[in-house]
Amino acid sequence: MSNVKRHEYDVLIIGAGGAGLRSAIEASDAGAKVGVVCKSLLGKAHTVMAEGGAAAAIGNIDEKDNWKIHFADTMRGGQYLNNPQMAEIHAKEAPDRILELEAWGALFDRTKDGKILQRHFGGHRYRRLAHVGDRTGLEMIRTLQDHGIHQGIDFHMECTVLELLKDGDRIAGAFGYDREKGRFLVFEASAVVLATGGIGRAFKVTSNSWEYTGDGQTLAYDSGAELIDMEFVQFHPTGMVWPPSVKGILVTEGVRGEGGVLRNSEGRRFMFDDIPEAYKSSTADSEEEAWQYTIGNTEARRPPELLTRDHVARCIVREIKEGRGSPHGGVFLDIAWIKEKLPNAAEHIKRKLPSMYHQFKELAEIDITSEVMEVGPTTHYIMGGVRVNAETQMTNVPGLFAAGEVAAGLHGANRLGGNSLSDLLVFGRRSGEFAAKFAKENGKAAIDDRQIQSATRAALAPFERSGGSSGTSAYQVQQELQDSMQSLVGIVRTESELKEGLEVIGRLKERAKVVGVEGNREYNPGWHTALDLHNLMTISEAIARCAIMRQESRGAHFRLDFPDKSEEFSKVIMVIIKDADGQMQVNSEAIVPLTEEHKQIIEDNK
Ligand code: FUM
Repeated sequence: MSNVKRHEYDVLIIGAGGAGLRSAIEASDAGAKVGVVCKSLLGKAHTVMAEGGAAAAIGNIDEKDNWKIHFADTMRGGQYLNNPQMAEIHAKEAPDRILELEAWGALFDRTKDGKILQRHFGGHRYRRLAHVGDRTGLEMIRTLQDHGIHQGIDFHMECTVLELLKDGDRIAGAFGYDREKGRFLVFEASAVVLATGGIGRAFKVTSNSWEYTGDGQTLAYDSGAELIDMEFVQFHPTGMVWPPSVKGILVTEGVRGEGGVLRNSEGRRFMFDDIPEAYKSSTADSEEEAWQYTIGNTEARRPPELLTRDHVARCIVREIKEGRGSPHGGVFLDIAWIKEKLPNAAEHIKRKLPSMYHQFKELAEIDITSEVMEVGPTTHYIMGGVRVNAETQMTNVPGLFAAGEVAAGLHGANRLGGNSLSDLLVFGRRSGEFAAKFAKENGKAAIDDRQIQSATRAALAPFERSGGSSGTSAYQVQQELQDSMQSLVGIVRTESELKEGLEVIGRLKERAKVVGVEGNREYNPGWHTALDLHNLMTISEAIARCAIMRQESRGAHFRLDFPDKSEEFSKVIMVIIKDADGQMQVNSEAIVPLTEEHKQIIEDNK
């Protein structure tokens, strides 16, 4: 074991996006010795892709807003599969977390009288998103990072964790390697918090960068934790579609929040064509009313472009499939049109959406103040993930916690935009608090060297293989998986395609087992990709299996062969475990029931 470098912590946090950083700050505040491991450089996290804002019922603009309405909106957006306890905690605590961030130096946009400015976003009744132009996630990361560094937290950048280590049932630490030199690392820890984010890289078109390969979900699953809701993958309606090199990059919902409209090749605002029953009474029925809402007329109803993401993404797919798309396979997003309404429209757009202005100018040579954008759905987020206790964020594995996107429960079948940033602050904080408490109460666990030896052997195995009879490379396998997930397990699903998808995943899993890599452990991206494959296969299988089981359409899960919601499936969630033979099992289980108070709040805020 002499070639393995050891570190010792009370609390180890895996992932340094918003959830990981907020968790680390809280655990450190509680007196724990904290280490944070991140796969990439500090500050490079998918949190920055939540551009448009953080949802919190502060009520700075719309005084009528409060936690109850935020709770009701979140439950309705999640089509009532959400864990209501989590939705309540989130809605109640989000305002304090935003104000705390402001006290730590986050520079939010301001109202004229100096309060935090809030904007409209899909599915939120009131202007609720505290924001920093269209760079909210970035500002949040910057603030948390500065705060954390000054607290003396240890950061291990460019490290990948490959296995969680256990002492009997409880967590004991983690095994990984540094990506630069390929040296193995053992982190001894009394408690571990997973904050690794999402799974976007299982699909071909995604807003996620290379790090998001389902690592935390797989680490949890392999160590005996449960996964839930894995069929619910969020396809954000607006990603760039052109040029090909930037396909999938996010175009913030903030564009629509500021008055951007979606049009098809006939120039029609097609979102007016299809308003879901649950939103009929709260959606504008004329372009003028939609504009009035945008500029803050509280009597007006929301534009149909601000319906929930699942619905908008499907409407876009319909337009494209029926031949009314844009030249490069998307639809048109137009914010330039507001010059008909506002005298200084170009300046207004540049001030409100500076990143979008630069993104299109630099990457697509489009000036969004005078030209339309081409956009289409992009894999953005997974509502499913690791099952946690609503209050503590602990999984069913003692000492293992999860927070942020890797955890599940809050968002149900569909997440409202802006709820991810407040989610990671609220539950990141709680995970840090309770992980530190667990570490204090339970002390150090023992690590058996045989676990480290077997993890080392598994990590080195690709060097001993030639790539099997087909000579397959890790990149080929990853690419074939992404293609199949996109076409067979994507936005519109059918049983036959899902089953075909599952078969393909099965075949690719076998090929992944024989993938070989050349060279040595230093600077070897082929090796890194080979090691990511296990995670990608695991979460892809979980998504496909749950999607087959859920024979209805709800939220982000749309089945062409079961296009309606079903009463039976409205009462259950899908739970995944690894059985004693190492096989994936999916069982349906009753949802967490609403309390009488929750029912009343939902009824009052329909
Ligand atoms: O569109 C956006 O700015 C994304 C926000 C989110 O995913 O919460």
